Amino acid sequence: MEELTKEIEKLKKEKNVVILAHYYVNDEVQEIADYIGDSYYLAKAARETDADVIVFAGVSFMGESAKILNPDKTVLMPDMSADCPMAHMADAETIEEMREKYDDLAVVCYINSTADLKCLSDVCVTSSNAVKIVKALPNKNIFFIPDENLGRYVAEQVPEKNVILNKGFCHVHASMTAENVKAIKEKYPDALVAAHPECREEVLSLADYIGSTSGIIDYAAKTDNNEFIICTESGVGYMLKKPNDGKKFYFAGTKHFCPNMKLNTAEKILHVLKTGENEVHVSDEVREGALKPLNRMLELAK
Ligand code: 13P
Ligand code: SF4
Repeated sequence: MEELTKEIEKLKKEKNVVILAHYYVNDEVQEIADYIGDSYYLAKAARETDADVIVFAGVSFMGESAKILNPDKTVLMPDMSADCPMAHMADAETIEEMREKYDDLAVVCYINSTADLKCLSDVCVTSSNAVKIVKALPNKNIFFIPDENLGRYVAEQVPEKNVILNKGFCHVHASMTAENVKAIKEKYPDALVAAHPECREEVLSLADYIGSTSGIIDYAAKTDNNEFIICTESGVGYMLKKPNDGKKFYFAGTKHFCPNMKLNTAEKILHVLKTGENEVHVSDEVREGALKPLNRMLELAK
């Protein structure tokens, strides 16, 4: 591993590369990344970097967004097949139907979506800014795509809006149940529950804290409690345990691994750095269409 890290470091300097990694990727990748964060933080980091090459250890919508925000930079993915199934769970026909039904509709698109879906949307959001952005929109009627659970959570926080939900879901978060959380709570009654808003309503109703991956990590670090039940993908464990302060984290359910995020490895990063393979390309037309809602998000989330 040490040899591999050295080689990666050498190539990074030679080619002016920055490695961005989501909290859900393997520990070995988080260890070599320059920036690790939630989707919002990574989108900002991708826009602000002055590197020539971005290696994005995440899933395809993340690499695609980085390319859309940085058309002149080279964006490489360690594994091109790393894709988020939820990113595809909305469709143009339903969006069209909703636009016909409501004159003032805003289509709000979770960043976990394909660039094609972004092109059909008015604004993008991430889990850390969705409530703020939906609140700030002038529209009363909101069609929230693709994630139903995040959409429902937003609707509860912004009752003045009519939020129409779409049936998309993240299989990792949807695998966690209230029963899973209660079973851990029975064993560790003092543990506080921190959940990602992609979780089911029944899980969110048991949560002491609801927020993005960064939010969950901050909450655990800043809260004076020794035990936490974590309802999100287990990759966040790397950062949660980093302070090494004896806090204990119990992950809800048994399927808290995102197989797509786990396709990112240090070895694959070295391979793309050496070969330049797995470059992300976005057509000019799609780029133009998807840039608008992404930029609007970055503006409204400030
Ligand atoms: P955040 O890191 O923005 O909370 O997103 C979670 C997620 O599921 C990314 O795929
Ligand atoms: Fe998609 Fe869920 Fe994996 Fe995130 S954790 S990339 S939302 S499948």
